[in-house]
Amino acid sequence: MASEVSVPSLFQMGYYWEAKIFLTSVKLDVYTPLAEGAKSAAQLAEKIKADPDALARLLDALVTIGLLKREGDAYKNVPQLAEFLVKTSRFYMGELMLLQDAEWDNWGKLEKIVRTGQPTVKDNIFISRPELGATVSRVLHRMAKRVAPALAEKIDLSSYKTLIDVGGGGGAFSIAFAQRYPHLKITLFDLPQTLKISRENIERENLSDRIDLVAGNFNTGQLPGTYDVAFASDILHYQTEDENAALVQRFYDATAAGGVLILKDMFIGDDKNEPGWNAVFSIHMMVYSEKGRCFKARKIREWMRKAGFDNIVEIEKNTILAGTKGI
Ligand SMILES: C[S@@+](CC[C@H](N)C(=O)[O-])C[C@H]1O[C@@H](n2cnc3c(N)ncnc32)[C@H](O)[C@@H]1O
Repeated sequence: MASEVSVPSLFQMGYYWEAKIFLTSVKLDVYTPLAEGAKSAAQLAEKIKADPDALARLLDALVTIGLLKREGDAYKNVPQLAEFLVKTSRFYMGELMLLQDAEWDNWGKLEKIVRTGQPTVKDNIFISRPELGATVSRVLHRMAKRVAPALAEKIDLSSYKTLIDVGGGGGAFSIAFAQRYPHLKITLFDLPQTLKISRENIERENLSDRIDLVAGNFNTGQLPGTYDVAFASDILHYQTEDENAALVQRFYDATAAGGVLILKDMFIGDDKNEPGWNAVFSIHMMVYSEKGRCFKARKIREWMRKAGFDNIVEIEKNTILAGTKGI
C-alpha cells in the first residue's frame, strides 16, 4: 500500500534537519567514546576533535531527537541504540549511514537531474569510486547475509550441480547456496576489485574449494562457462535497459539446457497505482549512479522471454523472478 502522509509527517519530511544531524553524529562518531561511559561535551570534543560549544549544541539536539540521553552535563548512549551505533559493536550499522552522508551533495542535485534528465555522476561507484565501492560491498554483504540463507531455503536447487553468481559481491548468496546445497559447485563472477572482498568472506567460511572466483565485466564478452543455475542479485538496477536486455541474453547463453535463471532485484510494481517503495529507491539510483534505475517486473519478464527463457515465475513479489531454459 502506498503511504498516507499526515500533515505532521509532511512537515517532518520537508525538514530534513534531523536526518543530517543524525548522519553527522555518525560521521563524527559521538557514540563510540560514550560506550566507555557518560561524558561532558568538552570531554567528548577532546576525544573526537570537535569544537566544544558547537558539539554541545549538536549533542543537545541528539538528546531531543532521542539518539542520546543527558544527565546534568553528561551525555550517554541510549542502550538499545548503542549496539547499532558504537563502532566496536557486532551490529554496527554506521557504515550504511556514512554511505548516505557521502551521497548528500548528489541529493542536492536532484532538481537539476529531474529538470535536465542528465546524470551528475559517472558510471557506478564499483567502477568509478572503487574505495567507496568496497565499503558498499561490505555493507551490502552484511545486509545480504541476513536474507541469503532464507532464499537458499526457499529456492530448491537440490537437482542442480553448478551455479554462477553474477555480480556476486561479498558472496553472501554464494555462501548461503554452498552451505545449503553441499553438492553445488559455485562460480562467483565480479569485478577484480570486488573479488578481494568476496575472497575474504569465502575464506572465512572455509568455502574456497566450493566457490571459484572469476574476475570480469558482465557487460563485455561471454560469461565464463555454462551453468545449471544463473543467479544475479541487485545488479540490474545499476544499468540501462539495453545493457540489461543484452545481459539477460548472456545469462541465457550461460545457462545449460534444462537450467534456470534467477534474478533478484528491486522491481517497481506492475500495478500503476502502487509502484511500491522501490520507486523511491530508484531516485537514489538516479542521483548516485550514471544510469541506474529500478525496472518494472514486466520489463524484466520481457527481457527474459526475448532471450528465450520459459516458465517465468515471480518467486517473491517485486523481488525475485525465475525462468527456465528448455531442453
Ligand atoms: C549491488 S552489488 C550486489 C552484490 C550481491 N550480488 C548482493 O546482492 O549482495 C552489485 C555488484 O555488481 C558488481 N558489478 C558492477 N558492475 C559490474 C560489471 N560491469 N561486471 C561485473 N560485476 C559488476 C559490483 O562489483 C557489485 O559486487
